[in-house]
Formats: sequence, C-alpha cells, structure tokens
Amino acid sequence: MKFEKNILCIGAGYVGGPTMSMIAFKCPQYKVTVVDINQARIDAWNSDVIPIYEPGLDDLVKKTRGRNLFFSTETDKGIREADLIFVSVNTPTKTFGQGAGKAADLQYWEKTARQILANSDSDKIIIEKSTLPVRTAEAMERILNANSKGVHFEVLSNPEFLAEGSAVQDLEAPDRVLVGSRETTEGIAARRTVVDIYANWVPRNRIIESNVWSAELSKLTANAFLAQRISSINSISALCEKTEADVDEVAYAIGTDSRIGPRFLKSSVGFGGSCFQKDILNLVYICHTYGLHEVADYWESVVKINQWQQRRFILNMLGNMFNTVAGKRIALFGFAFKANTGDTRESPALAITRGLLEERADIIITDPQAIPHAKEDLKDVKHGLTFESDPYQAAKGAHAIAVMTEWKLYAELDYQRIFESMQQPAFIFDGRNVLDHRKLFKIGFNVFAIGKMPLKHF
Ligand SMILES: NC(=O)c1ccc[n+]([C@@H]2O[C@H](COP(=O)([O-])OP(=O)(O)OC[C@H]3O[C@@H](n4cnc5c(N)ncnc54)[C@H](O)[C@@H]3O)[C@@H](O)[C@H]2O)c1
Repeated sequence: MKFEKNILCIGAGYVGGPTMSMIAFKCPQYKVTVVDINQARIDAWNSDVIPIYEPGLDDLVKKTRGRNLFFSTETDKGIREADLIFVSVNTPTKTFGQGAGKAADLQYWEKTARQILANSDSDKIIIEKSTLPVRTAEAMERILNANSKGVHFEVLSNPEFLAEGSAVQDLEAPDRVLVGSRETTEGIAARRTVVDIYANWVPRNRIIESNVWSAELSKLTANAFLAQRISSINSISALCEKTEADVDEVAYAIGTDSRIGPRFLKSSVGFGGSCFQKDILNLVYICHTYGLHEVADYWESVVKINQWQQRRFILNMLGNMFNTVAGKRIALFGFAFKANTGDTRESPALAITRGLLEERADIIITDPQAIPHAKEDLKDVKHGLTFESDPYQAAKGAHAIAVMTEWKLYAELDYQRIFESMQQPAFIFDGRNVLDHRKLFKIGFNVFAIGKMPLKHF
C-alpha cells in the first residue's frame, strides 16, 4: 500500500510509543515507524506484552501494528525513508560536569541530530517531541543545516502534554496541541504540515500555533505550574497538621474559586515521575544562565518543598511509631509514582523506602504494576526488603501500612481483615489521602493522613 506520508519517531518510550500509536490509529493514510536503540524495548513493542502499562494502549497497538504502525531498531533506514521525524528520546538531568544536577543532558538528543544528518538525502521536518531547554531548536538547526548536501531541515517544537496513566485519553482528546516553528515562509509551511496531521482528529481550535521558542518554553512552564500547585497545597498541608484545619476541606474551598480551579490540589506525600523535577531544575538552570537568579530561586523552591514533604512523611512515621521503626515490618501500598502506570521514575515511594531502610525497618513493597521496576530501582539493597504482589500478604504481621500510590484497589480492600492480621497497635499512614480514615479508625487503626489531625487510640 502507498502511504501519503512516512512518519518516523526516534525513541520508543512512554511518549514515543503512545503518541505514535495514536497518530497511526487516527491516520491510516500515514505510515508510522517508531525506532529505538533499545532492542529489548522494540521486541516488547512487537510482542503480546508491550513495554509500558497504560489503560487502552494495548488495544490501540493491536489495532495498528503491522497495518501502518511499525516498531524497529533500524534507525538509519527509518531516517532515509521519512518525510517527518519526531524526536522523543530521553532528556534526563545531567549528572556530570557543568550544570550537573540541574541542566538537561542533551547527549542523546545531539546524537540523534547527527544521525539524522548522516542519513538524510532529502529535505525533512524535524519535530522536537522531547521536553527541551528553550532555544534547543537553534542548536539543532545549526547541526543539521551545516551540511554540504543541499538538504534543508526545518526544526519544529511540538511538546507532549500527555499525563502517564491517562495517556491514551489525553492523546485522543487533548486540551490542546502546540506546534511551534520559525516564523519564516518555510517554517510556517512545515508547521502547517504538522498541524494537518493532528487535525485528522483534534479540533482546529485546540491546535495552537506559535513561534518555536514559545512552544519550547511552554512545556517547561506547564510542568513548573503543575508541580507548583502540588507543592503549594503540600506546604499548606503541613500548616493544617499544626492547626486542626483539614487540607481536603481547604483545597475544596479554594478550588471552587473559578480563578483557582479544583484540579491538581490533592495533597500527598509529593509529586514524582520523570518530568516535573527534571523540567523545573532545567528551568532553574536556564534562568541562572540568563542571570535571572530570583526567578531561578522561586522555581527551585517548588522542588525543595517536594523533597521536604517526603522527609516530613518519614519523620512523621518515625515520631508516631515511638521513635523507632528498626526491625518493624512496614508494608508500602504502591510504588508507582501515580496510579494506572507501572512507571516508578522519581516516585516518592523510592525516597520513603530508602529513608525507612536507613532506619532499619523491614519493608514489604506491593503494587499491581510496578514491582518489576521497583526491583530494578532497589537492586542495590541487600537486606530488609521484600516484594509481594498480594496486599493482604504484604500487610500480614506488619506494624504499619504506608499508602504511596493512589491505586483504586487500595481504597477497596477489606481493612477489617487486614487489621486482624497486623501487629498491634496497627498504624496507617495515608500518603495519598485516598482511604476512609474514620472507618479505619473505628476498626482500630491509628490513622495518619496528610494535612489532617491524626486519629489515634493512644
Ligand atoms: N513520560 C512522560 O509522561 C512525558 C510527558 C511529556 C514529555 N516527556 C518528555 O518526552 C521525552 C521522552 O520521555 P519518555 O518518558 O518517553 O522517555 P523514555 O526514557 O521512556 O524513552 C526514551 C527512549 O529513547 C530511546 N533513545 C535514546 N537515544 C536514542 C537514539 N539515539 N536513537 C533511538 N532511540 C534512542 C531510549 O532507548 C528510550 O527508549 C523526554 O524529554 C520527556 O521529558 C515525557
């Protein structure tokens, strides 16, 4: 079959895989190829067990794979055949040299640019899908267009706003799609080409066009604002615990103000995921680079509050369990950074586990999707750690349960049965405020939630 366009995506991760599956599903007239250097990941995409858990994704892949969606490790071939190339490689925080701990590590990004250049014999549109520092497109253009082949590359920014756990839904009906380009004739023409792809299913008024720098900066800013809301309500949760105010009541009361709005006001043990911290630190680094130190400090405090909230959770457990958890069995309910994903990158559960292990607690981790990743994250730990898929077994004989992820199933468990199987006095620390605290208290638990007065029997 002859396809209208050949679309390539470099990077078959949490963004590349789902985004391209949706494009392939909605646009059978295009051939969509997703490539990666990770053979195991590509094999998984081509198997019955795809490498990431996202509600609805399995179905999407089954409907499109082999029809107009292909997963491969043949990047060079993919580049040669492509009209448009989305680049969705990872852009983690730099761990070495200048900017270590804050700046984005662009090595994967730059390698991709050079590979595109080496394998291109015709003009192409390159689309930044990864989250990148503002003005990265300029560096990309310099590398790509410094060629003597007479090949021209138009570099666009089309940041991805999907949220893990609801990626398919977010891709199918996005709040908006953002496409940024140079404001030149060629730039605007390339932008229209990308807009036309999304217009196959996204209403035109939800597709925003902008200059390329605005698009790059909008993604960092969106993540900074989202994380800031979480740190803001979490900072208030600490004050609630001191004053007998209830953080859920405060959040509801302020969220009804249409200028504030109700979403992203759920207090918790903290935000996680691969993006929020990385992107804010990147923003902080960029601000320092431009001499905007006050702006940098402002955004850095969002990350500091998040780290403090996690430390506070550990200290709260310790303080309430008679100042020692050494040798005590503690069941962590959930390890993924949020519900409906198996992703554990920067999960607060990781910091809590390590903090409790330092206090010599015996940790039992349970999670419906994230145990394989949790095992990988904690493979250096030799003692005091067990994994258990059944939450009832995890809680058996435990002194305490700490809810780390808001999986729906944890609100639906038989807590009477759990209580009877635990050491007494039994503690629950609800790091996501998802349980029925009064009911648990009535059963006999000592209940500690975020931003609420404790319910305790002693
Ligand atoms: N995860 C999210 O929810 C999310 C949401 C929006 C934006 N983003 C951004 O999207 C980008 C990708 O994130 P992700 O979560 O999909 O990362 P990921 O680590 O899951 O996937 C990136 C993939 O790129 C591959 N890769 C790296 N270098 C390559 C190369 N030279 N050639 C081919 N493949 C290569 C890696 O092997 C990996 O499989 C990041 O910049 C991230 O900030 C992520």
